Amino acid sequence: MFKRFRRVRINPKLRDLLTQTKLSTDDFIYPLFIKEGEKIKNEIGSMPGVFQLSIDEAIKECLELKKLGLYSIILFGIPKIKDSIGSDALCEHGVIAKAIRAIKEAHPDMFISTDLCFCEYTDHGHCGILDIEKESVDNDKTLKILGEQAVIHAKAGADMIAPSGMMDGMIVTIREALDKANFSDIPIMSYSTKFASSYYGPFRDVAESTPSFGDRRSYQMNPANRDEAINESIEDEKEGADILMVKPALAYLDIVRDIKNHTLLPLAVYNVSGEYAMLKLAGKEGLVDYDKVMMETLLAFKRAGADIIITYHAKEAAKILNESKI
Ligand code: PBG
Ligand code: ZN
Repeated sequence: MFKRFRRVRINPKLRDLLTQTKLSTDDFIYPLFIKEGEKIKNEIGSMPGVFQLSIDEAIKECLELKKLGLYSIILFGIPKIKDSIGSDALCEHGVIAKAIRAIKEAHPDMFISTDLCFCEYTDHGHCGILDIEKESVDNDKTLKILGEQAVIHAKAGADMIAPSGMMDGMIVTIREALDKANFSDIPIMSYSTKFASSYYGPFRDVAESTPSFGDRRSYQMNPANRDEAINESIEDEKEGADILMVKPALAYLDIVRDIKNHTLLPLAVYNVSGEYAMLKLAGKEGLVDYDKVMMETLLAFKRAGADIIITYHAKEAAKILNESKI
């Protein structure tokens, strides 16, 4: 009479039959950081296994990704010259436009998303044009150049645009700009619910995008606010986003499920740099079984409701998934 649950756990084949959530290499988007230059492959101290790559090295990396069954990447650009408005991001010869073109030419079968923001391109490290008086980002001035940036990416051959700057009205603005330039087929994956999180620290080392003053709390979300978190994503859906996102992932799984329950759109999570770095270090110190904790974590994202997982673990996870198939 006490076998209510355990009798279905005894036979491993039955356990397999009853497994509700399964990970696959198709679930992952792998981030790549493109640095202006040649033959650059800089490993970043705070993120072991993650590199700044020049375009030639990124092309080689894509070959490795494809061998593992990974066909989706998201690109971040690290330009040589930064200025107050992030001009490199608005130029057809900027680092990211060049990277998209070169990777598409070498690997037409890769699905290329691009992170659409200004913090990697501005000398002050904020996500748009500054409003000096308010010591913050000017929403509407930034919207205007966000539209331009989206069209630059699309022209270069990006398959999907992923705006991450948390400006109000960014989705409708980008959609209009893309449609006007005849890119109505390009989907928008919005970083729709993005928190002002301290988990982004290592990313800012890799992307060289730490704000030179202040923080991002006047545009990114307060981690304490659940209703606002849902509302932000619903608003982006109304504005025309095709895919929504919660970022960071691990500390916000309640929000992932909440949003999933409020939308029928696909949902992505961004398993961010700080989450990756913590697990790396714990694994290195022998505190946890790295591979097992990584897979358990990725599974939790999917179980919570994520359809897409953007993760620095994608290659390691793909190796494990590919081996277990044999
Ligand atoms: C740019 C951007 C950031 C991340 C993705 N896009 C940094 C930030 O908002 O400061 C963070 C990703 C990570 O931590 O892995 N706006
Ligand atoms: Zn930004």
